[in-house]
Amino acid sequence: MSDKPTILVTRKLPQNVEDRLARDFEARFNVDDTLYTQEQIVELAEGCDGIVACHSEHFDRAQFEWLPKSVKILAAFSVGIDWIDLDAAKDNGVVVTNTPDVLNDATAEVAILCMLGAARRASEGERMVRAAEWTWWSPSFMVGTQVTGKTLGIVGMGRVGRIVAKRAKYGFDMNIRYSNRSRLSPELEDGATFHETVEDMLRHCDFLSLNCPATPDTIDLMNAERLALLPDGAILVNTSRGAVVDEDALIGALNSGKLAAAGLDVYKGEPGVNPKIAELANTFLMPHIGSSTFETRDAMGFLALDNLDAFFLGKEPPTRVA
Ligand code: DGY
Repeated sequence: MSDKPTILVTRKLPQNVEDRLARDFEARFNVDDTLYTQEQIVELAEGCDGIVACHSEHFDRAQFEWLPKSVKILAAFSVGIDWIDLDAAKDNGVVVTNTPDVLNDATAEVAILCMLGAARRASEGERMVRAAEWTWWSPSFMVGTQVTGKTLGIVGMGRVGRIVAKRAKYGFDMNIRYSNRSRLSPELEDGATFHETVEDMLRHCDFLSLNCPATPDTIDLMNAERLALLPDGAILVNTSRGAVVDEDALIGALNSGKLAAAGLDVYKGEPGVNPKIAELANTFLMPHIGSSTFETRDAMGFLALDNLDAFFLGKEPPTRVA
């Protein structure tokens, strides 16, 4: 019998990552990339020492209580930990780690993509061309909102938010404002204007990018009242979590023209999207691909494995969250 720890891997991971897992652990892979139910995870984790899982699962209190007691670590293949009940993990003696930093650039790229896509009506234009419905041109055809030189407000100036700010400032000459739990150092702030509250910032924003995690404080942060504080014709971008936007309020603002457009990579009730959002012409929609580059998915997997390596060597996992 092998003395390597046994790891349940709940989803198909990049090949390089699975190769390292197979080398260093007794790994139970998900060859078909099936989305396991909570009951299946409990069954498959029988005899396992650890689990690598993704935000497509829900590790709530019941899941931790049902897991075999041999499971001592959950290495999340994600930076977001809104799908994990950290208190329940602690109560059940399970260490939790995540994958911060390695996905900052990829996620910031998608925020910029969503900003440009929404502003320049990219979905509408692409659909029209593909459907062979592009039959005319005129000065009033497919006119969108210019990005260059506008003001971008960022909610959550953490690791991803700061890269969005940098790309927007140096790529598109945008003026950056931000609201954050605390003011950044002048070096990290890089000329951006700090606002103590989101409400205080909103009226200045031609574009608003949401880069904060989903926590009890940020659920439905962008509700009808706060959306109303944005200038008419503003554009909202969300690459953080669907939970931070009240989708009914967003649909109302997009229908009324209060918002010119929205660029979204995340939704409530993923996978899938509220059909009312999908029906709107003024939305640019991506299927939660913020971290989905070959480079980043490898890096996320390797960081998850660094955490497992450290844990099973009796060391502190480098990116432990609980
Ligand atoms: C993350 O890492 O949180 C991404 O949203 C993918 O799960």
